[in-house]
Amino acid sequence: KEQLTSTVLGREIHYFSELDSTNNEAKKLAANGCPEGTIVVAEAQVTGRGRLARGWFSPHGKGIWLSVVLRPPFNPMDAAKCTLMAAVGVNRAINAVTGAGCGIKWPNDILWQGRKVVGILTEMSAEMDAINHIVIGMGINVNIEQQEFPSEIAATATSLAVASGCQVSRVKLLTTILSELETVYNSVKNAGFAPVLADWKTQSITLGQQVDVHGIDRSFGGVAIDIDVDGALLIETTQGIERVLAGDVSIRPA
Ligand code: BTN
Repeated sequence: KEQLTSTVLGREIHYFSELDSTNNEAKKLAANGCPEGTIVVAEAQVTGRGRLARGWFSPHGKGIWLSVVLRPPFNPMDAAKCTLMAAVGVNRAINAVTGAGCGIKWPNDILWQGRKVVGILTEMSAEMDAINHIVIGMGINVNIEQQEFPSEIAATATSLAVASGCQVSRVKLLTTILSELETVYNSVKNAGFAPVLADWKTQSITLGQQVDVHGIDRSFGGVAIDIDVDGALLIETTQGIERVLAGDVSIRPA
């Protein structure tokens, strides 16, 4: 706590050796009225959760399994952009600390050489037209050796230690993440989402690439050309421009 450089994020810290999921714990705390900026961290998660009902590999002491509670004065429609905002903050932090040169795959995966280093799962609780709280869950693969990943994800996942060739300080990384996240959050509160979305574009590895979209009800391919004001991905296809607000996108190898 003494090493924190953020003022709001991390002002209340709930630290656990083991949890089912830091997002579950953070949602309980948020529902019980914890202050904005409360964070939950665990050394290990037994049932870490990923997007689209997937799991998240969360071995003891080797990553940052973190959830942050925010109470943003935004419309529930802005929740998707909060996830892009988180990706921008986290990507800045990990590149600043490790120099690894990671980029963001739409909407919010952080990759190094095509392999996933960070996943983000945002969950919201809203009433009427106001957000009560959002929980931004971040899974950062820090000091996991390549051979330690389970076989199902061994080809698609990697860690900052692998990317940078040395062990990375989790405390340094966590404090930098909180501080960068606070900076982007304040920027959105003061200046709206446009500057952060512009920043997202500069850190993107998706734009300009041939992609395949695997939607809930449809799949198609095309070139990712831009994101719009809502953070939706715009894809140029043979049928015209398609807009994707949620779903899974894979980048075709060149
Ligand atoms: C994804 O890419 O599918 C999102 C992964 C999010 C994982 C993190 S780890 C901390 C937090 N607690 C969870 O159960 N999930 C998120």
